[in-house]
Amino acid sequence: MQLLDIERQPDVTAADGVGLPVSGAARRVFVETYGCQMNVSDTELMMGVLKEAGFRRALRVEDADVVLLNTCAIRERAEERVVGRLSQLSSVKRMRPDLVLGVSGCMAKHLAEKLLNQLPYVDLVVGPDSYRRLPELIGEAAGNPALDVRLDRHEDYLDLDPVRQEGTNAWITIMRGCDKFCTFCIVPYVRGRERSVPAGDLLRQVRIAAAEGFREVTLLGQTVNSYHDGETDFADLLKMVAHVEGIRRIRFTSPHPSDFSDKLIDTMAEESKVCRFIHLPVQSGSDRVLKAMERIYSSGRYLDLVDRLRSALPGLCLSTDVIVGFPGEEDSDFESTMALMRHVRYDSAFMFKYSPRKGTVAFREIPDTVPEAEKTRRLQTVIAQQTKISGEINRGYVGHLQEVLVEGDARRGKGQAVGKSDGFKTVVFPKNGVRTNTFVDIRITGATSHTLIGRQEH
Ligand code: 5AD
Ligand code: SF4
Repeated sequence: MQLLDIERQPDVTAADGVGLPVSGAARRVFVETYGCQMNVSDTELMMGVLKEAGFRRALRVEDADVVLLNTCAIRERAEERVVGRLSQLSSVKRMRPDLVLGVSGCMAKHLAEKLLNQLPYVDLVVGPDSYRRLPELIGEAAGNPALDVRLDRHEDYLDLDPVRQEGTNAWITIMRGCDKFCTFCIVPYVRGRERSVPAGDLLRQVRIAAAEGFREVTLLGQTVNSYHDGETDFADLLKMVAHVEGIRRIRFTSPHPSDFSDKLIDTMAEESKVCRFIHLPVQSGSDRVLKAMERIYSSGRYLDLVDRLRSALPGLCLSTDVIVGFPGEEDSDFESTMALMRHVRYDSAFMFKYSPRKGTVAFREIPDTVPEAEKTRRLQTVIAQQTKISGEINRGYVGHLQEVLVEGDARRGKGQAVGKSDGFKTVVFPKNGVRTNTFVDIRITGATSHTLIGRQEH
């Protein structure tokens, strides 16, 4: 899945009990979300389940009866952060032994035994297919540690209504799991087999989001464009969502390059509500490495797809994911990745050092040959190149007008607002009374490799 920007690698994306009413009487829950947008969406789902069961949200750990960390397992670093946070939270639990401390999501599935056996302060371990049982498991955890990490190939949570986080974008999970089994990736093991939510239920969710005031939806799935509910494929679904009144922008993440059909490209070209931005993970520019990763495409086929996308969708912005230091990656393979990235000139990229994940084919069968220092060197090299390219591309926007969906106050710079362009660029501009969740035209006056800067055009 796509992460949020190249500097901020996987991070805490939500840090409270999103959306639930705050109250003193009922049990109160506080959730921290780690990792990708799928987890943000799952947190909203968990909040829906807990709300139905009478739970309320806590705004701080100190006020919570239940603290849940909704976790990521994609790289070792993501898991280390959670272990560190759990150890911090164990001191809160020492003061308040009644506090229920839980771990949900991918790491819960990946390291269930370790969590329960080695971290005695963890009361609850809930895998991605067991959120329906959360209230029950929280009840059980009050006595003994509770565990449910079974995978359920049919669970799609379609009858549950998420409690959406405030903001300008509604996340709609359209498919869960993954059948691709890239050799480096833990996702198919922790999230199970691919399954799609029926289109009718998704349209209902999109209509509700529109009625709640959301103008933008992002369709989510591990391989979002493999969506198929038996009748409707991903291109059909995009068309249906585009016809929902009130929705002005449609995004999706993350597509797999080998499932990008001509029909999908044509549909994107026909539907102007579908944003001109695609996160298209390439992982490597070396055919030898792509083969060892079992990515199913060659660099040539990927580049051909990029060409077809760019000619059908003028002004298209592209981002990608890249892994450096995959086992057996030689200097020449790394150079091929650098060359591919220079050729495509992505608007932005998420770049990672390979992290061996127990349970995957690469972990079992391919020795991790690239020394850590070399992985670091390659990562720094590829980030430096991408930062330069992103800066050059962004400076090309100076003088141009961008339609921006206003997200709120900018983190830095007093009196500044921030929003996103159609091409998913972060745009910062003087606030001057603009309201969140409205569209404004911004004349771009400056740019860095991460941000466009501008002022409102009246
Ligand atoms: N090591 C490093 N990066 C990984 N990713 C997935 N698994 C690993 C791993 N074992 C990256 C891929 C994927 C993104 C979400 O995380 O680039 O597209
Ligand atoms: Fe992981 Fe590959 Fe599936 Fe993406 S497509 S979730 S990288 S196995």
